Amino acid sequence: MEPLGKLRLGVNIDHVATVRNARGGVYPDPVRAAKLAEEAGADGITAHLREDRRHIADADIDALMEALSVPLNFEMAATGEMQEIALRHKPHAVCIVPEKREERTTEGGLEVAREENRLAHFIAPLRDAGCRVSIFIAADRPQIEAAARIGAQVIELHTGAYCDFHAEGAFDQRDAELARMSDMAAYAHELGLEVHAGHGLTYDTVKPVAALPQVMELNIGHFLIGESIFRGLGPAIAEMRRLMDEARA
Ligand code: PXP
Repeated sequence: MEPLGKLRLGVNIDHVATVRNARGGVYPDPVRAAKLAEEAGADGITAHLREDRRHIADADIDALMEALSVPLNFEMAATGEMQEIALRHKPHAVCIVPEKREERTTEGGLEVAREENRLAHFIAPLRDAGCRVSIFIAADRPQIEAAARIGAQVIELHTGAYCDFHAEGAFDQRDAELARMSDMAAYAHELGLEVHAGHGLTYDTVKPVAALPQVMELNIGHFLIGESIFRGLGPAIAEMRRLMDEARA
């Protein structure tokens, strides 16, 4: 199958804020990183305002909404507080993610099937406000079906397990996970959902995911911010873009 369209790159700038917050103060500035990412070819900027504000702060979202020329993908937990913030800003997209206070990063996908009713009511006002609603889930058929039923326009497939298997050298499991993502991307597309993917992607793992024809957007953060220490943020993003384009060609 031919790819459905150009693959967009969303650059997640959360960990610029992590470095800033390690010392307090204002340096390095996530908004400056976002503007640089735009110049380097990012199609969108992603930021996750966590309940504990461990990286991105409320003022960063205000500043990003003000400064960006590309769309903001606002990652948020399904809480009343976050819904209120999203409705105030009306970003281009919201991505609903699970959030546990004790986790180091977003560890699993959202359990949409278990919370279908609540989530349907939760996302309705966000959709009505014009935000594209994305749901971050594992590549599981019941979760995808539930995401379609609650009225989400987009699902983001969690690539964390695939990347972890790769890092551990568990290549059979990695390939099985990739095959599952491939099948589920096709299934989600059949149900009318736009498919995105992300979490943990690196130069070593991005190409097979970028090659999935139904996947329209990748959201990548931690690796790019880390790699920017060695080659600068612009070149780090440009190399990711090159690998994505190569996989897609
Ligand atoms: N997509 C979602 C929904 C996420 O929660 C995250 C992490 O915040 C990412 C993508 C990016 O993951 P990483 O920082 O590991 O590239």
